[in-house]
Amino acid sequence: GTAGVGGAAIRQRKQGLLLTMGTGSTLSLVQAKLAAARSVTVLTGAGISADSGVPTFRGPDGLWRNFRAEDLATPEAFVRDPKLVWEWYNWRRELIATKRPNAAHDVVAQMERRIERFWLITQNVDGLHRDAGSRQLSEIHGNIWKVRCTTCRQVSDNREVPIPILPSCGRCAGLLRPHIVWFGEGLAEEDLQASDAALRNCDICLIIGTSGLVYPAAGFAAVAKRAGAFVVEVNLDPPQRSGVVDATLQGRAKDIVPLLFQA
Ligand code: APR
Repeated sequence: GTAGVGGAAIRQRKQGLLLTMGTGSTLSLVQAKLAAARSVTVLTGAGISADSGVPTFRGPDGLWRNFRAEDLATPEAFVRDPKLVWEWYNWRRELIATKRPNAAHDVVAQMERRIERFWLITQNVDGLHRDAGSRQLSEIHGNIWKVRCTTCRQVSDNREVPIPILPSCGRCAGLLRPHIVWFGEGLAEEDLQASDAALRNCDICLIIGTSGLVYPAAGFAAVAKRAGAFVVEVNLDPPQRSGVVDATLQGRAKDIVPLLFQA
């Protein structure tokens, strides 16, 4: 049955009890599980960086000149109009350059140091997890501070803000592109393997701030669940993933994540 009015709502689901934030028992359940966990895998999306001032992709401030990420982050868009795509990335680089990790990034970095086996899978390209000290991570959609030559394929760091348009390779003068996985492109084999191993071998899988709309990341929670993990979701919105998530904590990542793990 449905209990509770207002904040605390406990809904009995056919796949077990879905507890939402506001029921103290959810928090203490997750705290206890994390404290006892030998192996934790964290998956993050734009929501963890929203509290640092980086707009999410599908939130109210997710558009640039009325373009959606799906319009610009594609190989076709880059072939058609590389200048426009670089203008968008320059806008994002300029914006991200002034942003700092928030408490949620910091706690995720502390988990890495305190939990026996830990891996972070992030869809974010803003580099804020690295800035917070995370090192055991897969940046499965790339990193906005890396560029790749479209001719010789060399990947290099580039922190120029703005980066001159159109940027050319220092080695072969070929056209540089952001080292980011675009829609329609595959993830790096190394990242897929590291993510799969981490998802199949964790006691707890913590999903923070992702809409779960873009694959393969959208299927990662189910991989962990099938392998026996206890799946926890932290999201500003009400729970979406029916049947996969064991406990949902609704609210801002910067407020909730520090409560889950006492460093
Ligand atoms: N705390 C927690 N969650 C939040 C917060 C917050 N402060 N703010 C927003 N969210 C949640 C939203 O409810 C939403 O579920 O974060 C999620 C952001 O969803 P998206 O904008 O779709 O971002 P993401 O899931 O990371 O997108 C996945 O899509 O555009 C591509 O490659 C890009 O990596 C990106 C991928």
